[in-house]
Amino acid sequence: MNYVDEIKRLKQEKNAVILAHYYQEKEIQDIADYLGDSLKLAQIATQTDADIIVFCGVHFMAETAKILNPSKKVLLPVMKAGCKMADMISPSALKRYKEEHPDTKIITYVNSTASVKALSDCICTSTNALKIIHHYLDQGDSILYCPDQNLGKYAMKQGGVSFDVWDGCCPIHHFLDPKKIITMKKKYPNACVIAHPECKLDILELADYVGSTKQMLDYTIQSECKEFIVCTEKGVLHAMEKACPDKKFYLASQTLSCSNMKYTTLKEVYEVLKNETNEIFVEEEIAKSAKKALDEMLKLS
Ligand code: 13P
Ligand code: SF4
Repeated sequence: MNYVDEIKRLKQEKNAVILAHYYQEKEIQDIADYLGDSLKLAQIATQTDADIIVFCGVHFMAETAKILNPSKKVLLPVMKAGCKMADMISPSALKRYKEEHPDTKIITYVNSTASVKALSDCICTSTNALKIIHHYLDQGDSILYCPDQNLGKYAMKQGGVSFDVWDGCCPIHHFLDPKKIITMKKKYPNACVIAHPECKLDILELADYVGSTKQMLDYTIQSECKEFIVCTEKGVLHAMEKACPDKKFYLASQTLSCSNMKYTTLKEVYEVLKNETNEIFVEEEIAKSAKKALDEMLKLS
């Protein structure tokens, strides 16, 4: 069966739209109606007039789309596609922190479950984290940034400020070894290093540019640089190579691969679209509170 043709046919027949994150496999990126980072995909989810959203990404992304646009049917091609970082904070642990710090504002990275979002004052993504953190600090609030310690520490360093951070991380970015970057820089002396802020500070200090996946992509398009050492999940290289066919992209390490992002295949996209299975549901009370925190992010973005 030609899955690409069948997916196109079903999309039209059912008024469905396919959203995909840059970390998805090439063939999934190529069939997507919208390709984006966490922020862009969340914004699209609020705007689409399709009846069905097939979310090619991980569970928290599909859940976010459902919370932002509850009247839509949101389908996740592979239900087990989770996020290791999102699993590093539980609602009960966050509740305990809140009881001990009743006046602290909770700023939560979008890589979190709906139940954790529901306990938060505001959500952020890697695109808008610094802006949102500073919005609260400028108001004189004390904040907790959770669950990504690396983005939190990067924001502290950038702003010369201090606040509480959770000790979660994305293992894919967190365990990138700075020695790899140093070796790569020797091999490609003219290459610019670009890094995602989920990497540790010792990596970010070696980078010429730090940003979300979309910001990194835009940087590669605008930069005079012709070669790039890329410190984020390998999927984004496909979008970079397509956007800049005359430039060269080197993945900083072969370990930069998120298995959860790679579960989605064309077969699964076809099957969920055909059978309308793997629908995402979020409990009403949780969805209401999580939406408040997400709306706050969209307002401040
Ligand atoms: P962005 O999409 O905000 O760049 O975040 C990367 C990520 O880890 C998604 O899981
Ligand atoms: Fe989660 Fe990291 Fe995979 Fe992104 S790359 S989905 S943060 S485990």
